[in-house]
Amino acid sequence: PRTIYLTRHGESCHNRQGKIGGDSDLSDKGWNYARTLGDFIKTQRIRDLKVWTSWMKRTIQTASYIEAPQERWKALNEIDAGICEEMTYEEIEAKHPEEFRNRDLDKFHYRYPRGESYEDLVARLEPVIMELERQKNVLVIGHQAVLRCLLAYFLDRTADQLPYIEVPLHTIIKLTPVAYGCKMEEIHMPI
Ligand code: G3H
Repeated sequence: PRTIYLTRHGESCHNRQGKIGGDSDLSDKGWNYARTLGDFIKTQRIRDLKVWTSWMKRTIQTASYIEAPQERWKALNEIDAGICEEMTYEEIEAKHPEEFRNRDLDKFHYRYPRGESYEDLVARLEPVIMELERQKNVLVIGHQAVLRCLLAYFLDRTADQLPYIEVPLHTIIKLTPVAYGCKMEEIHMPI
């Protein structure tokens, strides 16, 4: 039996400012999470654990204190918000009201101009999921939208549900296979 561990990166400087996208560093709180995560993983003594991150600084920094082999996947990068990158939702609503409305109408299929949709993300993540299925114990340090896609796959959620799955910061999600599908357990880290 194997376990897949999923977590978002620690709080980033953009998270603090409510901005989406970009490639910002962790905040002080985010760095605290990186240390807590490193300690937690050590106490778990997980056999042959591998750590997968995206190419973004915030996931790589979150992995800093984990003693295990690491791999970087560009396919794990956060959804590309195109013209809305590095904006707050308030700024998007003010500058691109039509885009803001359209996204709300069909969040799964909505594609940011010059960016991606959740549907695009599901396609981009297919090789990651195929490889995850072949692996033993893996910790994926990812991003909110990306982890929603992975969770929807393992927990059999519909395309309508997918963009609204809650993936809180500073939480480790454990997925273990059971007779049909996966059992999910959430571990909230005190930060
Ligand atoms: O910017 C990316 C967020 O993690 C995704 O959130 O799809 O709910 O806007 P959202």
